[in-house]
Amino acid sequence: MTVKDIFETMDYGPAPESAAEALAWLVDQGDRFGHFIDGDFTTPGDGFASTNPATGEVLATLTQATQVDVDAAVTAARKAQPKWEKLGGHGRAKHLYAIARLLQKHARLFAVLETLDNGKPIRESRDIDIPLVQRHFYFHAGMAQLMEAELPDREALGVCGQIIPWNFPLLMLAWKVAPALAMGNTVVLKPAEYTSLTALLFADICRKAGLPKGVVNIVTGDGAVGEMIVGHPGIDKIAFTGSTEVGRKIRQATAGSGKALTLELGGKSPYIVFDDADIDSAIEGLVDAIWFNQGQVCCAGSRLLVQEGIAERFIDKLKARMDKLRVGDPLDKCIDMGALADPVQLQTVRDMVDGCQDGEIHRLNTQLPAGGCYYPPTLITGLEPSHQLMQEEIFGPVLVSTTFRTPAEAVALANNTRYGLAATVWTENVNLALDIAPKLVAGVVWVNATNLFDATAGFGGVRESGYGREGGWEGLQAYTRPKGKAKPLARLEPFSGDKIEPEAVDRTAKLYIGGKQARPDGGYSRDIWSKSGKHLGEAPIASRKDIRNAVEAARGAAGWSKTTGHLRAQILYYIAENLSARADEFAHRIDSLTGHHGAKEVEASIRRLFTYAAWADKYDGQAKGVPIRGVALSMREPVGVIGAICPDEAPLLGLISAMAPAIAMGNRAVLVASEAMPLTATDFYQVLETSDVPAGVVNILTGSHEELAGTLAKHMDVDAVWSFSSSDISGLIERESAGNLKRTWVNNGMARDWMGAAGEGREFLDAATEVKTIWVPYGE
Ligand code: NAI
Repeated sequence: MTVKDIFETMDYGPAPESAAEALAWLVDQGDRFGHFIDGDFTTPGDGFASTNPATGEVLATLTQATQVDVDAAVTAARKAQPKWEKLGGHGRAKHLYAIARLLQKHARLFAVLETLDNGKPIRESRDIDIPLVQRHFYFHAGMAQLMEAELPDREALGVCGQIIPWNFPLLMLAWKVAPALAMGNTVVLKPAEYTSLTALLFADICRKAGLPKGVVNIVTGDGAVGEMIVGHPGIDKIAFTGSTEVGRKIRQATAGSGKALTLELGGKSPYIVFDDADIDSAIEGLVDAIWFNQGQVCCAGSRLLVQEGIAERFIDKLKARMDKLRVGDPLDKCIDMGALADPVQLQTVRDMVDGCQDGEIHRLNTQLPAGGCYYPPTLITGLEPSHQLMQEEIFGPVLVSTTFRTPAEAVALANNTRYGLAATVWTENVNLALDIAPKLVAGVVWVNATNLFDATAGFGGVRESGYGREGGWEGLQAYTRPKGKAKPLARLEPFSGDKIEPEAVDRTAKLYIGGKQARPDGGYSRDIWSKSGKHLGEAPIASRKDIRNAVEAARGAAGWSKTTGHLRAQILYYIAENLSARADEFAHRIDSLTGHHGAKEVEASIRRLFTYAAWADKYDGQAKGVPIRGVALSMREPVGVIGAICPDEAPLLGLISAMAPAIAMGNRAVLVASEAMPLTATDFYQVLETSDVPAGVVNILTGSHEELAGTLAKHMDVDAVWSFSSSDISGLIERESAGNLKRTWVNNGMARDWMGAAGEGREFLDAATEVKTIWVPYGE
């Protein structure tokens, strides 16, 4: 194009960024890379080519890690970890700060290398990815500095295995490495096989920054290397970002291993436009929502829901805007969309769209550059909400759309997905926006904006979009654990006896489901004996069917989640008051069940109810100071229906310790009582009956922990399962939870001091809540 052409057409002229510096860096490294282990690059071994997806050119050869490499990386990380932790918050802060400074200094090199390796427009890598990477390291230098003062009860997990995808290669690395290091962990990280180069440049930066050897280790390779990391016994925590399918496999593979796990998975995020929205802004937002990074964004606004009255005008304007998008050389600064990350990914997107026989497809009509992984911006209108392309993540520049009539319908359509990562709402009506945002099942909601990120604002999903948050104070939970060494928990066997006194009244307890006493579906019960062999009564044996009924009752009690903290506090106080009125009777029952400490356990139970009554209206969210003119609200929402397998050893206190935080935060609970000593629980429902607890909010079952835990963990309508059981069921729960990727919190066979401070507090409140971040820019 000549200057004359540009002048006449008023088109953008090309403004290419030079690749020279990045290519020179690759040449300096010999175009072949080994792994970064224990502070040094290893000799390159057998491997694979890393290509530029915009041209197909080979950029470098990478090494496929072997088990020996992964072992060496884990050994180095293990060895380095205690010293790194002991360095203290300030020591670690200085290192993170040094990394942040070097990232800033080499920002251009990183941006160009990222664009060469991934195909994303230089404008994005330069103005979004790399600045956010720097911000993450600065922010977490601060977190390291504050750790001792602000998180005095938490410590590092140890060695973290981190597996990241190819869509934001360096940014995902930063999201994983910065908080891990800040909290005193060391890491073994595997970048995605398509995009490992900036991770290797980052390794070089770590070396230059004088980071102690072994604190950061980077191994390259495909999913097989990921599996080696996931399965490695020397790793304490796995952090994964990628597809839901692989996330599920990782959940299964780590089940029962005691490894902590966070998963940041896929999405099909709704982009909701109401008829009073500022349409032009909403269209610009949509360009960022679905064509940012070629649509390869886990939280991409990939499902447009537009109100019927404006749908036609909106779609016409959208098509006109689409037709002006510029697709081409990612290094050209005037380009809107570059290349997809890899030919495999390009083929996946093609197959999904070509397989669609329905709706109407509009594509940008332009000549795409030859030889690269280019795909045109695409819009598919008129699909049914249940259509595969409305439900499945395409992970490319393809927007699907449908219409709605009322706000209620918008919410129903938005939530009609197995995912729950993000959502966007456009309306000029603040009441409507703030009414809708809490109703959306998503970890992040943007109001009149989209794809905003910052290190202080938690990011992460619900449902099959995974669990755990990255960023903010909440993100540190995933890289720390409560201080102190737990003791192993031995299985508690029930007492036995053989002499049943003839009794005047039947002493067969019932289950408590939906606010009513219910006989077990199977009709079976078992004898319960005191320590001295006295027959105390019979406890029902609940089965799968009873779990189903209890879950249904809990689901039905959804209104509880909408009640105020004040109301929930009052009810918890009332339970405490009614328990207190029957304290002697409960103390006596516990004495006979456990053989000791009845009065103390009842007293502790009343205190615990008071603790959570206190917390019910005080476990607040935060307003995050994000760097926009606006605010990000981090709201604590209930998880939903929590199934809890209660401790065996403290039959009343244990049950209350699980129930009270759950319901204080607005969840509904299905509690499986102490297996060995279930009868206090069956007495306790009489207290609930007199305490104004709405039907279905608390359901109590008795029976085999193993049998009931498996059913709870498998149940698709249960949102979280906790286990404090003395039976060996942690692995079973984690494995079975993979179906709908429900949250799990299990004891891994470790005991907890229910009488002491470990039996209550923030750890429980965190497990009972989910953080939703709602971004609200201030309007004019
Ligand atoms: P993927 O989930 O297979 O890859 C992500 C990372 O996991 C890579 O580093 C890969 O090497 C590793 N990995 C693969 N199999 C593994 C295993 N069994 N154990 C441990 N690690 C393993 O994603 P892929 O195949 O690259 O993309 C497929 C689809 O996944 C995309 O089309 C998109 O829908 C989704 N995706 C979602 C992302 C997100 O941010 N939510 C990111 C990347 C992909």
